Amino acid sequence: MKDPFVLQVNDLHIHFTADGHSVPVVRGLSYTLATGRVLAVVGESGSGKTVHALSLLGLLPPAAHVEKGEILYKGKNLLTMPENQLRTIRGRKISMIFQDPSASLNPVLTIGEQLIETLRAHRPLPPKEARKEAVQLLEQVGITQADKRLDEYPFQFSGGMCQRVMIAMALALSPDILIADEPTTALDVTIQAQIIQLIKQLQGKNGMAVIFITHNLALASQVADEVLVMYGGLCMEQAPVDELFNHPKHPYTRGLLASLVSVDAERPDRLPAIGGTPPVAGECGCGCPFAPRCSYAEAKCSHQLPPLLAQVNHRVRCWPEELP
Ligand SMILES: Nc1ncnc2c1ncn2[C@@H]1O[C@H](COP(=O)(O)OP(=O)(O)OP(=O)(O)O)[C@@H](O)[C@H]1O
Ligand SMILES: [Mg+2]
Repeated sequence: MKDPFVLQVNDLHIHFTADGHSVPVVRGLSYTLATGRVLAVVGESGSGKTVHALSLLGLLPPAAHVEKGEILYKGKNLLTMPENQLRTIRGRKISMIFQDPSASLNPVLTIGEQLIETLRAHRPLPPKEARKEAVQLLEQVGITQADKRLDEYPFQFSGGMCQRVMIAMALALSPDILIADEPTTALDVTIQAQIIQLIKQLQGKNGMAVIFITHNLALASQVADEVLVMYGGLCMEQAPVDELFNHPKHPYTRGLLASLVSVDAERPDRLPAIGGTPPVAGECGCGCPFAPRCSYAEAKCSHQLPPLLAQVNHRVRCWPEELP
């Protein structure tokens, strides 16, 4: 039977090693991603969103390692797969775009050289064919006069245009999964909306699954089918987008939603304030990392990790008696 999930993350634990200490930064993350679906991973700075995404691509920095868990791509565990098989999947079937597009492009090569190199690295295309495909890709991401613009350098492109190029690069390999890590944070608000729309449109057209990483719950609601809220390396809540917005259960999610109305129009990339500060990795102790900021916290919350309760398609990490 065909696996309905293009990606399945099971009990993923990632640690950083610093000064001889092993610090957990992702703690038992599990989720499934079905073909053609969009999962938004939302959370404050330091919650483990990027580190988790890098592990999917095998791009963890040297100080980090997967301590435990499984990352199944179409049912096969990427963490135990031989290197030659991995190369056909990571970066190709699973692609990623980052927050700062200009940092991902090589300033001394033209856009065309970079796009064509990406295309030819994975398929033996004659130069003319490759250029034709590169033009089509730029057109697909809404860049006009694509043939001419292929010969320009990154500095001749605006931030929004560079992000379109990065999306074109990611699409060049027809990935099954596109990971977009804060893809619009470096862009101004109008351009943000255009890029979000573009990702959504290409996702529908190409049937890709998308993991959309953001600080911004409002942005997540525009693209996602499903939202996973992370805090202190843990999944705090996960549900289909309508369910999460209409029936948020975790005090943290409820705080985020309640403060959405006060989003700073100038900096919509930042989450509005919830009292207190996010935890520092390694200093979460054994209790709920949100306890110090939670107005419902009881004594047990600070020394016992609440369970991740599952109700049909809605998961929440809290004590059953505390939930609405
Ligand atoms: N190179 C590194 N060395 C040590 N610790 C790191 C390193 N990179 C990240 N971390 C730690 O891992 C944790 C998770 O970081 P991560 O970058 O995944 O957070 P994030 O949710 O993506 O945050 P942001 O919203 O700021 O991008 C943080 O506590 C961070 O301090
Ligand atoms: Mg990040």
